[in-house]
Amino acid sequence: MSETAATATAAATEAGEAEPTVVVDEVSKHYTVGSRVTALDGVSLTLPTGSYTAIMGPSGSGKSSLLNLIGGLDTPSSGHVAVDGKSVSTASEDERAAIRGTDIGFVFQTFNLMPRLTAVENVALPLVFDGWSRADRIDRAVDRLEAVGLGDRTDHVPSELSGGQRQRVAIARALAPDPALILADEPTGNVDTDTGATVLDIFDELHAAGNTILLVTHERHVAERADRIVHITDGEIGSIEATGEA
Ligand SMILES: Nc1ncnc2c1ncn2[C@@H]1O[C@H](COP(=O)(O)OP(=O)(O)OP(=O)(O)O)[C@@H](O)[C@H]1O
Ligand SMILES: [Mg+2]
Repeated sequence: MSETAATATAAATEAGEAEPTVVVDEVSKHYTVGSRVTALDGVSLTLPTGSYTAIMGPSGSGKSSLLNLIGGLDTPSSGHVAVDGKSVSTASEDERAAIRGTDIGFVFQTFNLMPRLTAVENVALPLVFDGWSRADRIDRAVDRLEAVGLGDRTDHVPSELSGGQRQRVAIARALAPDPALILADEPTGNVDTDTGATVLDIFDELHAAGNTILLVTHERHVAERADRIVHITDGEIGSIEATGEA
């Protein structure tokens, strides 16, 4: 184990004795579109502070549904979700938006950038929730874009960026507020190998810095960068596997 990993693990253990960053308790999610679909069926999962967890499972097994519930983009049919001690599942829509804005960085498979905003404006957007001045928001956004190697693309709108560059803008946006928790849904799914490697290096740095990370992936080599792999099938957690990195 590297020294940074050891330090991060020690910090996580110490911090983990307090409250874990995420507690998912007996969460189920049903959708009714014609017939009833059970996306999640009694899922319980804890993410200790500073942990790095990957979720793997077949298409349609409920991975994105779980991330969306933890991120407060959706509410469970039953059960409870808490992030940083705040109840996400019982919060109002406004409260959930505030928690998302300050505590959670979300990286989507499809990037979800605002098409008419430039890279720097996209990255600055979540900081509105934190009450930053416009100048401070722009400073922070430029800083984050530089960190993902896009300091020379700040004024480009998404359609003027490559797919890999868009994903890096999306990561810069997720990291802008310094969130305690990073949720990433297939962050390497739509990018080339080099960008994927850069994305994973950024996640390693965030992990070493003590952030809590939950990442969905179909790729085994990506999942192995995490401390542990949660296998999910048909809306249920099948097993939790410790990786060599743990
Ligand atoms: N908004 C929705 N309305 C109705 N059904 C939904 C909705 N979102 C997801 N589902 C259903 O819930 C199940 C789980 O979907 P989910 O998106 O969580 O899967 P996933 O594991 O992320 O799959 P993939 O690997 O293909 O992204 C699927 O059967 C899907 O059809
Ligand atoms: Mg999905």
